[in-house]
Amino acid sequence: YLSVKKEKMSTPVKKVPIHLQSSQNRLLIKNGTVVNEEDVTEEDIYIEDGIIKQMGNNLIIPGGTRVIDARGKYILPGGIDPHTHLDFEFMGTRTVDNFYSGTKAAIAGGTTMIIDFVFPKKGESLLDAYYEYRQKADGKACCDYAFHVCLSHWSEQVKRDMEILTKEHGVNSFKMFMAYDFMLNDSELYSAFEQCQNLGAIAQVHAENGSIIAKNAQRLLARGITGPEGHEMSRPEEVEAEAVNRACVIAKQVNAPLYLAQLTTEQSCEILKDHVSDGLRAFGEVEASSIGISGSLKPNLNVIVSPPIRSNPDTPYKLMSFLASDVLQLIGSDNCTFNKAQKEMGKNNFTKIPNGVNGLEDRMSVVWEKGVQTGIISPSRFVAITSTNAAKIFNLYPRKGCIAVGSDADIVIWNAGATRTISAQTHHQAVDFNIFEGMTCHGVAEYVIVSGRVCLDDGQLRVVEGYGHFVDTPVFAPFVYNPDEMDSLKPIKINDVNDFDLMEKTHKIKLV
Ligand code: URP
Ligand code: ZN
Ligand code: ZN
Repeated sequence: YLSVKKEKMSTPVKKVPIHLQSSQNRLLIKNGTVVNEEDVTEEDIYIEDGIIKQMGNNLIIPGGTRVIDARGKYILPGGIDPHTHLDFEFMGTRTVDNFYSGTKAAIAGGTTMIIDFVFPKKGESLLDAYYEYRQKADGKACCDYAFHVCLSHWSEQVKRDMEILTKEHGVNSFKMFMAYDFMLNDSELYSAFEQCQNLGAIAQVHAENGSIIAKNAQRLLARGITGPEGHEMSRPEEVEAEAVNRACVIAKQVNAPLYLAQLTTEQSCEILKDHVSDGLRAFGEVEASSIGISGSLKPNLNVIVSPPIRSNPDTPYKLMSFLASDVLQLIGSDNCTFNKAQKEMGKNNFTKIPNGVNGLEDRMSVVWEKGVQTGIISPSRFVAITSTNAAKIFNLYPRKGCIAVGSDADIVIWNAGATRTISAQTHHQAVDFNIFEGMTCHGVAEYVIVSGRVCLDDGQLRVVEGYGHFVDTPVFAPFVYNPDEMDSLKPIKINDVNDFDLMEKTHKIKLV
């Protein structure tokens, strides 16, 4: 381990037996409706060695190729969950889902890539924490993964480590906290955002005013309000909105693109919208929990997450409308799972409830149900907010986030006519309850293809531990730093152009 630490960590060797790989390396998906962010087409997809090699009709393909008939189904880019916490030590305990159970469950629900958070303990070196997380994930994850790195403190060393992480370790985003006991103050946020801007990275914030929350919590506890209802009471909507505004103002001073993680209120989104109209390059993320169960909720230990799932019944519709109108660009899960017994740690004091909920497995179905099924968003917008925008913001596009020749074959065959009822009895996560228990969703992943391998096969889950790879996220994502360049990255259709040199250049791969 120590010898690996000195060098850039190399990609782990896949554990997949050779016979499994070769029997599955050629695949034709026929008769489906291919949904990309910008168009919906009827065409077949030929996959070889993990890459989409041809798209169109009447394709000429080698014999012995497995054929999946997707008639009547949508073919979607695999989901990318931009916000997960697997194998995470937090608030005196550890999440029950690790990189194996979490990514297995992700695949079951139609997500084929996650971006997790390296979370250094207060004062711990960013690089040491990064190596620890690589050890946790490498050889375990069933699908590809990348990392954001959190800044739990600020120092000149942190600033240097950020540079090393971007230049040598494939990290292009850093998360700063405005709440919790490891929050940064305004001047530290200013310096951290400035460093992100210098490096071409993206600055993420957890936007809640931690000082106000701490004072409110003390007062509530002193009055005898100790139960889970105290959580949202200590964190009213304006306490989030104030931090969102402050983060935007600070980012503006240093011209840093900003990513607002886990927004939960209409007010926050309106503030973000105003700053973006004023010229700030900023992106907003919302969580499946805020779309799926907000408003219908009785406070209980199991649904405690920060910022809170709001009790305001208008919230889910408002947030979905902001996703539709591009005020918000992404939907994550903030999957951070603790069992019921762990949640009990806070039964006499709401500030001690380990914060976090599930969502990694169910995110796609919940958004389809609340967004597409209700008619608020189209299937193409669903693809944008569950996959393409994450790929663009974190500089993975067009390798990920679209169905195009040259892209990774991360694909979901989605039956919009089928329904499933979410339950902890049937889910694949390790956690012993599910916040969406009993919710029936239209939209079921029937086949999930991960780097060309059929990992959900007509509803049967056949994942391989360690099949996923760490994926570098390079700095200066064009979508973030130079949106005008995005046109040159548009996926190329094999029917539109026969220039293989151009395709190889665009997709940075070798077509055979
Ligand atoms: O409650 C939450 N969100 N737990 C995970 C840590 C974070 O803020 O992302
Ligand atoms: Zn957070
Ligand atoms: Zn989180």
